[in-house]
Amino acid sequence: MRILSGLQPSGRLHIGNYFGMMEAALKLQHEGEAFYFIADYHSLTSIHDGKLLRSHVRDLAIDFLACGLDPAKCVLFRQSDVPEHTELAWILSTVTPMGLLERCHSYKDKIANGISPSHGLFAYPVLMAADILIYDSDVVPVGRDQKQHVEVTRDIAVKMNLAFGDGLLKVPEPRIREETAVVPGLDGRKMSKSYDNTIQLFEEPGALKKKIMRIVMDSTPLEAPKPIENNSVLDLYKLVASPADYQTMVDDHLRGGIGYGDFKKRLLEAMLAHFAPFRERRAEIVADPAYVNRVLAEGAEKARAIARKTLDRVRAAVGLGD
Ligand code: ADP
Ligand code: TRP
Repeated sequence: MRILSGLQPSGRLHIGNYFGMMEAALKLQHEGEAFYFIADYHSLTSIHDGKLLRSHVRDLAIDFLACGLDPAKCVLFRQSDVPEHTELAWILSTVTPMGLLERCHSYKDKIANGISPSHGLFAYPVLMAADILIYDSDVVPVGRDQKQHVEVTRDIAVKMNLAFGDGLLKVPEPRIREETAVVPGLDGRKMSKSYDNTIQLFEEPGALKKKIMRIVMDSTPLEAPKPIENNSVLDLYKLVASPADYQTMVDDHLRGGIGYGDFKKRLLEAMLAHFAPFRERRAEIVADPAYVNRVLAEGAEKARAIARKTLDRVRAAVGLGD
């Protein structure tokens, strides 16, 4: 089974990214042949600052490794080291109906959030389809908001196969983890860079404390029972606490007599404890820049060999070259 996923290097990793996509992706590295990449071509749709993009790419590579990506088990690479993705994207774009892209929510959401509507942004699901199809991927672990893009990828693969021959491209499956499908942010909406409501995975402890104390809660009096639905502190706690500690916190909400400040302190402690090993690992990786360069160079070489083969197969089928 070949597994593939990508993350945009458009800012530091937040816990929505981690629990929505990365944790599942890291578990999958033990179940098949996994390819994970840093989607820097995609980030050009929102970042027009070369220095900044390059530093985000590096940070994301370090974060992936700190979270437990094992380069001996899976391939980590930078998308732009495999320019074959963009050539395949062009070929796919010639069979992609406009209507398919016009229906994509993510384009509309991004524009609504102030990203300028460039052609790249509109066409980005086609590049994403190329990212996936060029590795003959079976499974694509993503957060729920990316499910539509994997469906677009499937439609494009089917169209290509109809036009140029059965079995030319493998039709992939999305893998969405329903229980953590949407991680709430500080304001109760979906955690997202676009809403400026994120908790970064490697937030400094002082900043983490400030952010957790800022989480918006309702005004239930201290002695009264507290709601357990739509409660961001409780939802976040569930992700990082043991099931027994989570149950205690639920019981304490239902009983009343404990304020949100206390629950927030428990969340802070659980979060620091949960990510402590990652922090230690991150510090080691940062101290060894050559290691990161080596991982990315080896990853690019392995990925490119496969991508080249698929692209040659597609070029032959559509009539490009001799
Ligand atoms: P952002 O919304 O912060 O820009 P991205 O769109 O770059 O995040 O998402 C990267 C990956 O993380 C995707 O697979 C996405 O589905 C997942 N993801 C992002 N935010 C969340 C969230 N709040 N809950 C669950 N998954 C998320
Ligand atoms: N579009 C994804 C996001 O914004 C990132 C991405 C690009 C991706 N190409 C991909 C994810 C291929 C999975 C497979 O999060």
